[in-house]
Amino acid sequence: MFKISPFTASDLAASEALLDRAFGPGRLSKTSYAVRDGGAPVAARRFGARDEKGGLGGSSACWPNLIGDGDRPALLLGPVGIEPALQGRGIGAALIGETLTRAAVLGFRLVLLVGDPAYYVRFGFLPVPADTVIMPGERTERLQYYELVPGALAEANGPIRRWQHGPSPRPATGSPTSGRLSSAAGGYTP
Ligand SMILES: CC(C)(COP(=O)(O)OP(=O)(O)OC[C@H]1O[C@@H](n2cnc3c(N)ncnc32)[C@H](O)[C@@H]1OP(=O)(O)O)[C@@H](O)C(=O)NCCC(=O)NCCS
Repeated sequence: MFKISPFTASDLAASEALLDRAFGPGRLSKTSYAVRDGGAPVAARRFGARDEKGGLGGSSACWPNLIGDGDRPALLLGPVGIEPALQGRGIGAALIGETLTRAAVLGFRLVLLVGDPAYYVRFGFLPVPADTVIMPGERTERLQYYELVPGALAEANGPIRRWQHGPSPRPATGSPTSGRLSSAAGGYTP
């Protein structure tokens, strides 16, 4: 039985090792990593799936990103990785479900990810149409979106880029909760 809970500092090393086993060597050279953080302490929402003894069976993270010249951040989901021996037991689905719930609570409108469409379609992710959101260096069909607010994709146009620290990105309006964004914290806070 696995339970989903937020990361603690002690999960970081175990998570990195798990992701190496799940994705194999070379994962860090992917474009999706390059747009996540630039060395600055961009805040991430990370979740772990833990067994009764606290062992990490899966992990997920997400990062705020800007799109084109817009100033409203979308959430880039990933990496989501499950310990190879534990794959196929619903742990990935539980982590993704928790992340989407949390993203809505934080006031995000749009979630993006790079992954296998055949897996993510079950959560409602769809491939981004051509000439909308772009992740340079990634195959277009692997870039997918999920609208937390209907019409959110239409607000986004251009390449995904790092969330540069500086002026606080505009909080989402019409969001389901009072989630806010804070550059002072180097990230977003609930
Ligand atoms: C992809 C991943 C996150 C899914 O998590 P998981 O806990 O194993 O998956 P779940 O138990 O939630 O779902 C299992 C279902 O997803 C399917 N599935 C798993 N990975 C898939 C993939 N890459 N493409 C299509 N379907 C996939 C399984 O066949 C299974 O289907 P079923 O419900 O019809 O039997 C996990 O397998 C993983 O970390 N894989 C290694 C990394 C990887 O290959 N990533 C590529 C996808 S981004």
